[in-house]
Amino acid sequence: MTHRIAVIAGDGIGREVIPVGMAALEAATRGSDVTLSFTELPWGCDYYLAHHRMMEEGGLERLATFDAIYLGAVGASGVPDHVSVWELILPIRQRFDQYVNLRPMRLLPGLTSPLANRGAADIDMVCVRENSEGEYAGLGGRIHVGTPHEVAEQTGLFTRHGIERVVRYGFEVASKRPRRLLASATKSNALQHSMVLWDEVAESVRKEYPAIEFRKYHVDALAARMVTHPGTLDVIVASNLFGDILTDIGSAISGSLGIAPGANINPERKYPSMFEPIHGSAPDIAGKGIANPIGAIWAAALMLDHLGHRDLHDRILGAIERVVATGKIRTPDLGGNATTEEIAKAITGEI
Ligand code: NAI
Ligand code: MG
Repeated sequence: MTHRIAVIAGDGIGREVIPVGMAALEAATRGSDVTLSFTELPWGCDYYLAHHRMMEEGGLERLATFDAIYLGAVGASGVPDHVSVWELILPIRQRFDQYVNLRPMRLLPGLTSPLANRGAADIDMVCVRENSEGEYAGLGGRIHVGTPHEVAEQTGLFTRHGIERVVRYGFEVASKRPRRLLASATKSNALQHSMVLWDEVAESVRKEYPAIEFRKYHVDALAARMVTHPGTLDVIVASNLFGDILTDIGSAISGSLGIAPGANINPERKYPSMFEPIHGSAPDIAGKGIANPIGAIWAAALMLDHLGHRDLHDRILGAIERVVATGKIRTPDLGGNATTEEIAKAITGEI
């Protein structure tokens, strides 16, 4: 079986970690009946500087022909971040209706959390982040630009349809995990329109899942709870902005932003889904060869799982776990002095 994968390494450390993820995919599929055919697309900020656009004309139509998209990160000096995000990442997520952003956050055995006295059993969460609307709907505008009367308006857009489908996905994920626990991130005390709708829809979907223990938390309290009592959390469903912030906390308490993967999923499989590490292009360490590739490798494993190969996902994740558990090879973000290449070799070798 052949899957066609569009690869957008992007900028900064994206170009350092994505080749590692591709090598891991090659290793994982070797000897199996699965073949991945990669098409590398040179899109990103360099492309923008040469062509005044982040992707080629008709780029979305071209992407639509692939089975999945494997993305590094975009963002570099010379291109404003809102341009790189709004001309590449958000159009892909919205156009391909990747309305679920699934982000596991786990303290792997052998790693030390910056939180004192926590082990692997205490930090094992997955966030189901709404990925198509909410605070990142892109609505609003600026008037009187550059004058003392300048006004900016940024509007959050929440639809019953959008909330319902992502909350239902959250319940589905929770029902497949042993603890059967779902936390909803809200802020309905202050956001009296959007988050009250969010709560109402969540309450109605909840009726379909009586076996799941459902709790809602205000997002600020939930952020604190992730630090003080991470063991009480399992699946978290959150709006676009809330999920973005909570998953950076979750990956930080799991040891490093460099470990966490993300899947942008179109559950109906009408369009390709996109898999990426959750970190950005990390200009502060780009080019030094020390980026942690684990998030990119783990994202590659999520892609295989989505394509129907749970066994190959497990093969990659098992290799990550074994290499991490030995504690010998660590990149600097995890307190070691290994290079990207050293840990890449160890993990692909283990696969
Ligand atoms: P960032 O994730 O790039 O970096 C934050 C911090 O974490 C930095 O100190 C960085 O060195 C460290 N870090 C991140 N990934 C790492 C890894 N794999 N190994 C070791 N250390 C790692 O976030 P930041 O600094 O806010 O954004 C930098 C650029 O990336 C901006 O242009 C931003 O717009 C873009 N960005 C792009 C994303 C995407 O393409 N999906 C997501 C987030 C940011
Ligand atoms: Mg983020």
